[in-house]
Amino acid sequence: MTEKKVYFVGAGPGDPKLITVKGRELLESADLLVYAGSLINPIVLEYSNAKKVDSYGLTLDEITEMMAKSVEKGETVVRLHSGDPSLYGSIVEQIEELKKHDIAVERVPGVSSVFASAAALDTQLTLNGVSDSLIITRPAGKTLDKDLIPEFSRLNSTMAVFLGTQKIEEIMNKLECPKNTPVAVIYHASWDDEKVIRGTVEDIADKVKSAGIKRSAMIIIGGVVDPKNYRRSHLYGVAQDPL
Ligand SMILES: C[S@@+](CC[C@H](N)C(=O)[O-])C[C@H]1O[C@@H](n2cnc3c(N)ncnc32)[C@H](O)[C@@H]1O
Repeated sequence: MTEKKVYFVGAGPGDPKLITVKGRELLESADLLVYAGSLINPIVLEYSNAKKVDSYGLTLDEITEMMAKSVEKGETVVRLHSGDPSLYGSIVEQIEELKKHDIAVERVPGVSSVFASAAALDTQLTLNGVSDSLIITRPAGKTLDKDLIPEFSRLNSTMAVFLGTQKIEEIMNKLECPKNTPVAVIYHASWDDEKVIRGTVEDIADKVKSAGIKRSAMIIIGGVVDPKNYRRSHLYGVAQDPL
């Protein structure tokens, strides 16, 4: 008997060519496709002739029941999350509920929007002499009582803030790094209507407001946004360290 399972697929950041081959093939063969709302570029959904359901506003129980029923009928079910499902994807709770129905999960990773944002900025997120670490975080809100943005901002590391566009002013006010630290906001990274706003801790909130950007954007904070005084890596040197 074939194993009952649901495929959790990363859709990538938006550009339909940035989904994996495996992810695309699963979309093509799916009977039911449950996707994560407006964060999924509608062009990506066009790979699939499946019955498509937007999960926005549905409860965990409703999503689980729908997927379980379809699997029981022998259908191929794909749960599509934006970027990579392991970042702010709320998938562990879905996997747990499916397990209660004896349904397994197969995961297909995706290209996160944090990487599409680095590409839009033409930079590295870790850069020798500027920042050796990347902090991925989000601001406090409905699902997080207290964030660690002030503490993180003292570490002189690159910070990628998800789910923060609406709170950009609040986030900038919390930062404890110098006010001239470079910041970029990347709206719809890799979509046709991608927008990149560059500024500093001091002025980025006003620039984002003037550009009318309210959601679906990544905030990248740190020297890598405007790389100066970096050190060349040893990778291309004569004497290489083994990696
Ligand atoms: C629920 S999280 C999902 C993140 C996703 N799992 C990922 O790896 O990109 C949604 C947040 O991701 C960011 N995001 C998702 N797609 C984006 C894109 N194409 N460009 C910029 N930011 C994006 C925004 O900060 C948005 O509020």
